[in-house]
Amino acid sequence: MNIVLVGAQFGDEGKGKIIDLLSENSDYIVRYQGGNNAGHTVEVNGVQFILHLIPSGILHPGKKCVIGNGVVVNPAALLEEMDYLKSKEVHVDEHNLYISETVHLIFPYHQQLDALKEKRRGRDAIGTTKKGIGPAYSDKAARTGIRLVDLFDENRFFRKLKENVEFENEIFEKVFHVPPVNFEEIFNQYLEYGKRLKSYSCNVVQLLNKAVKEGKSVLFEGAQGTLLDLDFGTYPYVTSSHPISGGACVGTGLSPKSLHNIMGVLKAYTTRVGEGPFPTEFLDGMQEQVRSQGKEYGATTGRPRRCGWFDACLARYSVMLNGVDSLALTKLDVLSGMEKIKICVAYRYQDKTFDVWPHDISVLRSCEPVYEEIEGWNENLNGVKRYEDLPQSTRKYIERISELLETKVKIISVGADREQTIFI
Ligand code: GDP
Ligand code: IMO
Ligand code: MG
Repeated sequence: MNIVLVGAQFGDEGKGKIIDLLSENSDYIVRYQGGNNAGHTVEVNGVQFILHLIPSGILHPGKKCVIGNGVVVNPAALLEEMDYLKSKEVHVDEHNLYISETVHLIFPYHQQLDALKEKRRGRDAIGTTKKGIGPAYSDKAARTGIRLVDLFDENRFFRKLKENVEFENEIFEKVFHVPPVNFEEIFNQYLEYGKRLKSYSCNVVQLLNKAVKEGKSVLFEGAQGTLLDLDFGTYPYVTSSHPISGGACVGTGLSPKSLHNIMGVLKAYTTRVGEGPFPTEFLDGMQEQVRSQGKEYGATTGRPRRCGWFDACLARYSVMLNGVDSLALTKLDVLSGMEKIKICVAYRYQDKTFDVWPHDISVLRSCEPVYEEIEGWNENLNGVKRYEDLPQSTRKYIERISELLETKVKIISVGADREQTIFI
């Protein structure tokens, strides 16, 4: 069975933890979009791993991890992550990590441009991770991008890089009035990266299609979240790729016919890191309380995450866009100790009430959420192993979410560790 796991909110839903759990029954675990803007956390027996580019299945011996063509790769960050894993005694070599030869590369000028553009936007900044994601995807779309395979042909790489560096340096000097980047330095550095990554590079289209033909199971690891999708998210406050399930095909070369099941990951409340509309954001002391109870700080940038109530309109939109078959609901333990818990079931805007996620960000910015209240619970959920052992009001909360989204909840997470999981 081939499963796509997608973030169904604004990212950081706990995808890393769920991927780690589902990896056990998968042969291939595949990233299909995004880059090292992602930060996926997995905790095993109290040991924490944070992955940015390498699929979270890497912690399972014998599984094949794949970086598909839709990902943008910063080779320095990838090599660093490989070293990080090795230092934690996780096996990484060319038999369990495969990188598409057609991934587009992130260069230092992309990162610099990302930061400069953010600064220039001033109050309208997107709040990007400054990893160069947007500029790298822009080059890809403009057909000036440089791919992994280009590093293996010195002359071609020289020509392409020279052209890009000359162009970017004009922008740096004339638009931003900052010093140019050094061509030679980047050229030599990336040739070296190319040598180190050559044995990992392969034709992922053939690799995955052959695997599927042989009946192997593929697990797609979405990064970011549905509302950060370039087309369907809160544009322009989005990332530059397609985290939705449809992205799995364009980002790997497997056809839509090979996708069997879509699982959406939802946090039991909502968080967002970076700027952009967020109708259910807490405006009171709840912000600090949930942030500190949920340890809501970015796994990539360390920035505090904005927190708010669960938004069923947002989640319903995600379920629809992704074709979600079942849900994983994470971080329920964080809500313990609240007298009442709210779920947003509609929005009110200029005397109208509606329950459909609007595309107009000015509506999203000024609409007022309509809440339904559910009894809270005081019990600590961290040790609960069976659904029946959850407090009655916790079960009511889960059942209400399932009802509002017309989708079954199959996995419940009550703590960061692999073991703190309930399968229904
Ligand atoms: P991802 O980007 O979707 O993989 O999520 P992140 O790793 O960025 O953020 C999720 C955070 O919540 C991580 O620190 C996880 O270790 C943690 N986490 C995941 N599931 C649970 C849970 O059920 N309860 C608690 N308390 N923490 C969780
Ligand atoms: P994971 O995979 C949460 C956000 C940034 C910013 C916007 C654009 O861990 O869920 P970018 O650097 O991509 O151009 O930034 O997207 N963002 C994320 N937010 N989780 C992520 O990844 C994110 N990756 C990017 O904060 O608002
Ligand atoms: Mg994350």
